[in-house]
This record gives sequence, C-alpha cells and structure tokens, in this order.
Amino acid sequence: MKKSVSALLEQAATACAQARKGVALTGAGISVESGIPPFRGKGGLWEKIDPMKYAHIDALENNPAEVWQVLFMGITEVLQRAAPNAGHTGLFRLEQMGVLQTIITQNVDGLHQRAGSGDVIEFHGTHAVLRCMGCHRRYDWQEVSLATVPPLCACGAFLRPDVVMFGEPIDIKLLQRSQRLAAGCDVMLVVGTSATVQPAAYLPVIAKRNGACIIEINPEPTELTHHISDVPLLGAAGTVMERLVARVAQLRQA
Ligand code: OAD
Repeated sequence: MKKSVSALLEQAATACAQARKGVALTGAGISVESGIPPFRGKGGLWEKIDPMKYAHIDALENNPAEVWQVLFMGITEVLQRAAPNAGHTGLFRLEQMGVLQTIITQNVDGLHQRAGSGDVIEFHGTHAVLRCMGCHRRYDWQEVSLATVPPLCACGAFLRPDVVMFGEPIDIKLLQRSQRLAAGCDVMLVVGTSATVQPAAYLPVIAKRNGACIIEINPEPTELTHHISDVPLLGAAGTVMERLVARVAQLRQA
C-alpha cells in the first residue's frame, strides 16, 4: 500500500532524528526557489542551450569567447541575484542539530555556504572563483576585467570559472572523500537532483548498499525514486525541508 505524505514525512524525520552521520547530496533543484533555473526539464538551461555546444571542455577550448558570452555570463547574472532559500537553511539547521555532517553539492552557486553550512564539498567546482587555463592561477571576479571575454591571466592564457565542464574529471580527492562519506553515512538526503550525471548520481547507490536510509526530496520522480530511495518526499525543497526540520527538532527534544 502507498504511504501517505505525512507518514513518509514522519518516517524521514525519525530517520534523521536518529542519524549521527548524515550526508546530503544536492543538485540544481534546491536552488530553484532561489531563482536559479535547473538544467533539465521545463525551463531548464539545457532546453535553451545545447550543453555539448557550450558546456563541454572542447567547446571552451575551441571557442572561449562564445562559451563565455552564452554560458558563463548568463550564469553570473543569475547568481548575482540569488540568495539561500528554506532548502539551504534547512540543511544548515540539520547540521546544527548534529544530524548532518557534510553536504556534497553539484551546484556551483555557493548558496549552502551562504546559508551557514560548514562542510560543503563542491563536487562540480565553484563559479565564485576564476582559474587560468594555462598556469592554473586562481582569481576573484573583482580582480578581473570583463570588458572583453574571455578575460586573460597575467601569463596570457584565458580564464574560466573554476567549475567542472562536461568531459572534465572530478577532482580525485573530492571524489574519494565523497565516496567515503557516502559509504559511511547513516542517512543520505538527496535533494533536488535528477541523478542523471555520473559520478555524483552513484553516491546514493553507494550509501544504500552500505545500509543508509535514502531520503529523497524532489517534486518529480527521478532515476532513484523507485529502486534506491527509501523515503521519497514529493515536493519543492524549501517547503518539504521546513516541515522536515521542524519535526526533527521536535523529535530531538522529546
Ligand atoms: P537537473 O537540472 O538535472 O535536475 C534538477 C532536479 O531538481 C530535477 O529532478 C527536478 O525535478 C528537481 N527540482 C525542480 N524544482 C525543484 C524544487 N523546487 N525543489 C527540489 N527539487 C526541484 O540538475 P542536477 O541533478 O543538479 O553538471 O544536474 C546535475 C549536473 O548536470 C549539474 O551539476 C550540471 C548539469 O549538467 C555540469 O554542468 C557538469
């Protein structure tokens, strides 16, 4: 028999209240309520631009000016207006309560850190910093003129945001740490990801195989919902997280 929404919420809250080594895996969906569009689905970025044409490392190497104009400047504009929402602050509250240890995020928007979260693994890098394609020197955006794009490093090579593009590997240390955390967690909260991009999408599988309870928050079913998620909570991250956190707090005090 299908469980009701409130029964699922109670199950999730109970698992969280008992957790000591919780980990969250987040994706673009958690930032939708902050005004940042996701990549896939209705209104998603990949509906407007072809990721293979603009978000692949080959595209950046072959045509940096176009990738800068279409992709990087567009993201910069959207991120400037964004602030953390109840999804981000809810995860911070779970950290404060001792439920969550670490957030592994596929997002490059820095909103978890702005919400207060202390241990955030930026699996796909960060848009907040620029990196030289030649000498790898890192720059703050304020240090760089965007009068013409791509901006150039003092060494003459061009700069790009320090994000992972398609065709690029995940930093091996971050990948290994994320896999270790997934294998050792007691609860994994999977929030706002379509779980279609590897290797991030495999982390909940590792957690599940090692006995963690997988709680998924997403308004739509995903690749994980039917076979991996123990507690699928259908809904927007902010709304669901507020209810979940309030109930975990009650259970922790009881
Ligand atoms: P996607 O755009 O693939 O998926 C976003 C997910 O968020 C979908 O499952 C939506 O149903 C869900 N969603 C939408 N609104 C939501 C809300 N208010 N609350 C909660 N969930 C919501 O984004 P990711 O899974 O993060 O990588 O995508 C993974 C990677 O693919 C990205 O990091 C990026 C992209 O290509 C690179 O660029 C390397």
